[in-house]
Amino acid sequence: MPSILVLHGPNLNLLGLREPGVYGTLTLDEINQQLTTLGRELGLDVRCMQSNHEGALIDALHDARLWAAGVVFNPGGYTHTSVALRDAITAISLPVIEVHLSNVHAREEFRHHSMISAVCTGTISGLGVQSYLLALRGLSEKIRAAAA
Ligand code: DQA
Repeated sequence: MPSILVLHGPNLNLLGLREPGVYGTLTLDEINQQLTTLGRELGLDVRCMQSNHEGALIDALHDARLWAAGVVFNPGGYTHTSVALRDAITAISLPVIEVHLSNVHAREEFRHHSMISAVCTGTISGLGVQSYLLALRGLSEKIRAAAA
């Protein structure tokens, strides 16, 4: 069964409490639960991880090279600043889908630019938990097509 890394960046551990008007009321555990359940339906082994530290996110991406068929990644605020995360995505040669709960393009201008979009397979933004679930479906299709 293919394995998928779902990687959450900084401050996403506070989902549910953090700006619920922007990010919704679901906790990170609840989002991970929905992803695990959908993964089971799609025949994917979903493994979720969150870190507030850029280096730990880079380590998780490097490690995923050894076991994952793809990555669903919400880099949080690092989306807009991190050359190092972009380089890590390029280095691992795995399909990575960038996701955001909020519509980053409808927010402050500094959120309009993503350092990682250009090196990702796709980007989904603004659909709350559905951003993650659609990303998982998209990866599932990609992996299936690559294996056929
Ligand atoms: C976010 C959007 C980012 O701009 C922000 O810094 C986050 C969350 C989102 O999921 O909407 O931490 O990635």
